[in-house]
Amino acid sequence: MVKPGKKTPIRSIGILTSGGDCSGLNAAIRAATRRAIQEYGWRVFGINKGTTGLILRPLEYQELTLEQCDSSMLRSGGTMLGSTNRENPFNFPIGDAHVDQSSLFYDGYNELKLDALIGIGGDGSMKVLRRLAQEGKLNLVAIPKTIDNDVGCTDSAIGYSTAVEVVTEALDRLQPTAASHQRVIVLEVMGRDAGHIALAAGIAGGADVILVPEIQYNLSAVCKKITSLAGFGRKFAIVIVSEAVTKEDGKPATIPDETGRLRYGGIGHYLGDRINKITGAETRVTVLGHVQRGGQPCARDRLIASALGVHAVDLINQSKFDRMVAWKNRDVTDVPIMDAIKKYQSVDINGFMVKTARGLGICLGDD
Ligand code: F6P
Repeated sequence: MVKPGKKTPIRSIGILTSGGDCSGLNAAIRAATRRAIQEYGWRVFGINKGTTGLILRPLEYQELTLEQCDSSMLRSGGTMLGSTNRENPFNFPIGDAHVDQSSLFYDGYNELKLDALIGIGGDGSMKVLRRLAQEGKLNLVAIPKTIDNDVGCTDSAIGYSTAVEVVTEALDRLQPTAASHQRVIVLEVMGRDAGHIALAAGIAGGADVILVPEIQYNLSAVCKKITSLAGFGRKFAIVIVSEAVTKEDGKPATIPDETGRLRYGGIGHYLGDRINKITGAETRVTVLGHVQRGGQPCARDRLIASALGVHAVDLINQSKFDRMVAWKNRDVTDVPIMDAIKKYQSVDINGFMVKTARGLGICLGDD
């Protein structure tokens, strides 16, 4: 194990992606690898399947090269290293049981002779990675990624901007069909417990109603907005709803995954049905799902991923560990990982995005 706080000569670093994938991960891997090899002459090991690659035997990893990290990686979706949002080394699933496999992770880290690790993840992954680093005295730098954009201390996490582009394009495509058939179209989007995607794309895509988990909605206000549009000659309406918005009884709409764990899903159909019953409007529902996470990253995500990847490697070179790189006020900076984890970033209901939506006359369900 390396001694924390001391300037350690770096020869090899590991990099892994953990949690749900998103667009821009390969751009970050590319940037970190290029900086590490070109500027510092280090070896870079990509760990496959998040932390799992260091737990499995044989170890699952690949040494990354400059040749591999060409510009095609900037453009590609997903993560070339693979990822998982299930497996926690402290509670690792083996058969029906969950076992602490962190010692295998540390053994794997030592076997590869890693001097530092870059973990690209959301807040859940960062918590696990930080605990691994603290308990094993590993040198960790984190890079924030998540389409949900709920990681604290950064204006944008990798993947968020692309998701907003995808949802905005979906609204661009839904609006003409809604207008042609004089329908109400409800679009359900991801975001887990935060409404950032719905709010940003709803504004950019011209939604009439935006429902986010941070603002309690009242269905009669939503229906009033929809029917009032007819007074302006509008015979259709677009409603965008975040997956974590609850039903009228305050319960979330969920569906079990293959392990029985509940995940969000279904609020769009619930609301579509209720709106149809109350207003009589013909209603259709689109659930965008994982299309928000895949595909080519937009320019902004490529830029942020590149800047954060380079900065993460520079931090390692300066022996600045236990830090998360961040994108703030048009600049790259870094903060203690703990600060980012503690400061869950939900939609600021008094912030400029909410004010903008209200200023445009968009119904947020509470008026
Ligand atoms: O955190 C990213 C995210 O896409 C959420 O927006 C969504 O709720 C969840 O992951 C979906 O997870 P899974 O890939 O397990 O279906």
